Amino acid sequence: MATTQQPHSQPLTAFARDVLQGLSATPKMLPSKYFYDEQGDKLFQQIMRMPEYYLTDCELEIFENHKEGILQAFGHRRFQLLELGAGDGMKTKVLLRHFLERGAGFKYQPIDISRNVLLELEESLRAELPELDVKSLEGDYFQVLHELRGGVQPKVVFFLGANIGNYTLERAADFLRSIAEALNPGDLLFLGVDLKKAPEVILNAYNDPAGITAAFNLNLLRRMNRELGANFELNDFKHWETYNPISGEAKSYLVSLKSQHVFIKALNRPFHFEAWEAIEVELSRKYSLSELETLAKKTGFAVRQHFFDKKKYFVDSLWRVE
Ligand code: AVJ
Repeated sequence: MATTQQPHSQPLTAFARDVLQGLSATPKMLPSKYFYDEQGDKLFQQIMRMPEYYLTDCELEIFENHKEGILQAFGHRRFQLLELGAGDGMKTKVLLRHFLERGAGFKYQPIDISRNVLLELEESLRAELPELDVKSLEGDYFQVLHELRGGVQPKVVFFLGANIGNYTLERAADFLRSIAEALNPGDLLFLGVDLKKAPEVILNAYNDPAGITAAFNLNLLRRMNRELGANFELNDFKHWETYNPISGEAKSYLVSLKSQHVFIKALNRPFHFEAWEAIEVELSRKYSLSELETLAKKTGFAVRQHFFDKKKYFVDSLWRVE
């Protein structure tokens, strides 16, 4: 970002605004959606390959073992497959390939706010699944779903990879309600959710000994340094992870190792950190099956079917709009 002589007179970017709000709050927090700059994307790719991060492997196992059952559960009609936040589509491709082999009639519509993500995904789909009918949609999930309202084709919405876990229970409910409202009765939601399990398994997934998760979280400080002209010293903060087996909340923190001031040029002001003061940077909520079923009911859905991996660590749950 260009530096200016009077940064305070410039309109703030969304990132700058969220940082201002988060670091002014008590306790301090920063939204995890800002992890994913170029470096963050690379670190997340590494996380998905680590043995401790079971989530990706479990969901892939579910798709490989249940692809036919999943297709059957969608019914035999033509459908529109909308995917929220498709990423590189590595796991989704397993299903798409199978659906095509079985001659299913569907159009694939990945939705993302990043044009770059969509262009890369389309390119890889054209190369790997040339017969797939793809039309990506750039924009905010709800805006796009709203624009698609009233179509006659049944819709199946994919929200995979336990991304729902980043929301508090309240925000998850609002999010799901908005999806239900943007769809027609009978439309389907296919939701990837990480389940409650042995606490050490969950903790290790976010606290790997190689420190990849720590680097992923600390990259947020580096991003503020680069994009907002901040002067965070990465060595003066450490990654800390907790898991609460009652709430199911895994939380990541960055803890200040000493009393220090950090100056953020884009905000034209310093922020003070007390020794051992923590910034909450991510929530990854885990659900029990009964919590999930309650959530479905109160947001306008009926649970149709659960698809599990062998260890029952993860579920891809198919919900129908009531
Ligand atoms: C992509 C949000 C599902 O919360 O498990 C992985 C992100 N953070 N390791 C998760 C993440 C640390 C991930 N989600």
